[in-house]
Amino acid sequence: MTKPDIGDQYEIQLTDLSYSAAAVGRINGIVTFVHRGGPGETAQVEITRVQKRHLHARINEIISPSADRCPPPCSYFDNGCGGCQWQHIKVDAQLDAKEQVLIEALSRIGGLSSLPDIVRHPPLQPLAYRNHIRLAVTAVQPQVEFGFKQEGSHDVLPIDRCEIALPPINRALSQIADLIKDLRCFRVVELTLRTSATTGEVMLILIFPKGYKPRLRVTDSVLQNYPAIHSIYIQSGVRGQPFQIAGRETLSETVSGLYFEIGPDTFFQNNLAGLEQLVGIVQRHTQVNRPTVAIDAHCGVGAFTLPVAETAKAAFGLDLQAEAIALATRNAKTNDIRNADFRAGHLAKLGIVKADLVLLNPPRGGCWSEDLEALDRIAPQHILYISCDPTTLARDLSKLSARYEVGSLDLVDLFPMTYHFETVVGLRRL
Ligand SMILES: C[S@@+](CC[C@H](N)C(=O)[O-])C[C@H]1O[C@@H](n2cnc3c(N)ncnc32)[C@H](O)[C@@H]1O
Repeated sequence: MTKPDIGDQYEIQLTDLSYSAAAVGRINGIVTFVHRGGPGETAQVEITRVQKRHLHARINEIISPSADRCPPPCSYFDNGCGGCQWQHIKVDAQLDAKEQVLIEALSRIGGLSSLPDIVRHPPLQPLAYRNHIRLAVTAVQPQVEFGFKQEGSHDVLPIDRCEIALPPINRALSQIADLIKDLRCFRVVELTLRTSATTGEVMLILIFPKGYKPRLRVTDSVLQNYPAIHSIYIQSGVRGQPFQIAGRETLSETVSGLYFEIGPDTFFQNNLAGLEQLVGIVQRHTQVNRPTVAIDAHCGVGAFTLPVAETAKAAFGLDLQAEAIALATRNAKTNDIRNADFRAGHLAKLGIVKADLVLLNPPRGGCWSEDLEALDRIAPQHILYISCDPTTLARDLSKLSARYEVGSLDLVDLFPMTYHFETVVGLRRL
């Protein structure tokens, strides 16, 4: 059978959602990713990209829609906004699809066949939950526009609100163009907005090209004209260091009764209700297993270390980022938690060799192999792996499964309307 070519049209039956913006079906037996399709649908599609093993296609017409298709809640979705990928799928069906993605990854990549039932945690707020968004800016004097990149492109779709962001972010968005014009900082290329679901305060980070240092004379009084914005940082380069120019240094958030301060570039889960679901799962595990010594190997500002320290005799938090460690130390003090100790570094470089519980919560890339080797030497009785990427989770579990069995699996839909989710895996030493 000849291989399809770009521009060819086919009818396709879509069976699953993949870990991306696409649904999956087959054309001439070849796996085909169909942008914004839905499982159970039949569609007329056009091939847009041909790869060695896969095809990509766009929908020309949906011949029979799935019962799980719904009108997207945000008007920008149908115009190609890349901020969300699954708004066309009902929320319950999004969770079904995430569960399938997880099972697929654990069995195909992780080689794990007999698994415990997955405990599903539906989103408490499917919209208006995000406390953190990053937008691209096109500021051509005197016009200032900002938005998410379009799916699979570098083009920016200008927006003036985001349906999954918390209301304080949307209030701030309505004042940003005027602020940029007022400060005459037209070379801004990106902006980050962070808010606290607890206080409603908004932190704005204006990001400029690498090497460019804007000379802004800003005092706190400028914020009086922009009441929806409570602090401003500037940053040179997308990976640069934020530099405070007005307002408070940190945001504060209360999570399951504990108080946290968060810096402009320290990690914090972007959905407070979802974070509280994760903390509940972590607390359930620690209360059952009652560790003497626990290590939180990717601790950030201590979101899991402090709740664990409430049960363990001693808790150690590690993070590569010195700013996160400084704030975690401050957060422990503010909450009067004295048995938590924080250090900048990573597991393989840690002097501690004994612990009965280790928490892993790495970025999307998963755990460093040297840290997994160090974990083997520490040999904790229990590991809790909290992951935001099922593919790297599965890869790491395939290594850990030589010495650990999966005792529990929780799926938390922390990012409704997108294909992302969190998984918590409870591992027991064999
Ligand atoms: C997904 S965040 C989790 C932070 C924290 N557990 C939370 O939920 O707020 C991952 C954190 O791991 C840190 N990190 C990345 N690689 C690391 C490594 N090899 N060892 C220690 N920390 C690392 C990052 O700086 C970041 O703060």
